[in-house]
Amino acid sequence: MVKIALLGFGTVGSGVAEVLLENGKLIKSKTGIDFDIKYILDLREFPDHPLGDRIVHDINVILNDPEVSIVVEMMGGVHPAYDFSIAAIKAGKNVVTSNKAVVAAHGPELLKEASERGLRYMFEASVGGGIPIIRPMTDLTAEDEITEIIGILNGTTNYILTAMKDEGTSFEEALATAQWMGYAEADPSADVDGFDSCRKICILAAVAFGNLVSYEDVETVGIRHITVEDIKKAEEKGASIKLIARAVKTDCGKVHISVKPYAVRRNNPLYAISDVFNGILVRGKISGDLMFYGKGAGKLPTAGAVVSDIIDIASRGENQPQQVIWTTDKEMLAPVLPESLVDATFADLGYPVC
Ligand code: HSE
Repeated sequence: MVKIALLGFGTVGSGVAEVLLENGKLIKSKTGIDFDIKYILDLREFPDHPLGDRIVHDINVILNDPEVSIVVEMMGGVHPAYDFSIAAIKAGKNVVTSNKAVVAAHGPELLKEASERGLRYMFEASVGGGIPIIRPMTDLTAEDEITEIIGILNGTTNYILTAMKDEGTSFEEALATAQWMGYAEADPSADVDGFDSCRKICILAAVAFGNLVSYEDVETVGIRHITVEDIKKAEEKGASIKLIARAVKTDCGKVHISVKPYAVRRNNPLYAISDVFNGILVRGKISGDLMFYGKGAGKLPTAGAVVSDIIDIASRGENQPQQVIWTTDKEMLAPVLPESLVDATFADLGYPVC
């Protein structure tokens, strides 16, 4: 029996409990492992929930319990999520997270501390919701050189742009629906101003290229200024406006990263990515183009990605340290795209084209 503790019982945390309770038999039949949610850390009480008796309010209860081997952080925000994660690793526990803010701000330190102790820090759900992307990309880096990642990484903005295009819905109305559906961040400016996509592309670039750059140093433009008129004009020219997060390896070995709206042509596989779905095009020297597609936000898809990490840790057994170490070299960030890669622009719209 593998005992785990959940930190945070909001949308993702309660989704993880649901997946483990409802799919427990399936997981056991495939892996031979039984999971027990021993504690749930939250400020609130959940007296009517079947796991209501597992609620605790003090992180030390979890840190001091040697039976707990996996701590699953789904709190959102950097503090105290980071503080609890580093404390859990120092207390000898593996940590799984869905929290891109913590991975983008403290990933290198958490990976290093885990690795030094023969533990793992895993973050599949931090990018792309339910899409398996971190694990396949990590595997790919062992055999191939990734040269570029182009992604639609934010479900909320993609949902808004799709509603504006298909229904002529206003930006505000589409955002309100995305919030109601539970896709948006607590502060939706993180979605619509591109910061959520920016953190995610920085994480993917770190997985691909081994260096985490600060999201604050990355050119980031959101979607607030896009009008239904812009979208119609792009459509007339056979393109769709999407918020694109892009990381490109340049000839001198640096990486250029940006987040901005692009006019995506019909022949690009990202053109067809609609609604809350995310799509990630990964270019490898040997593999060529690989496309990853799925729901980028939502309770159960994200919870499924968290559970995949929990199962991964439990199935590998003890002392399987993470080999991944990220540097944080600012010099690795190329401020501009090399001339040969500069995007063409739709002259009368002002959007780069891909
Ligand atoms: N607000 C995020 C999105 C949730 O819309 O994609 C998943 O990270």
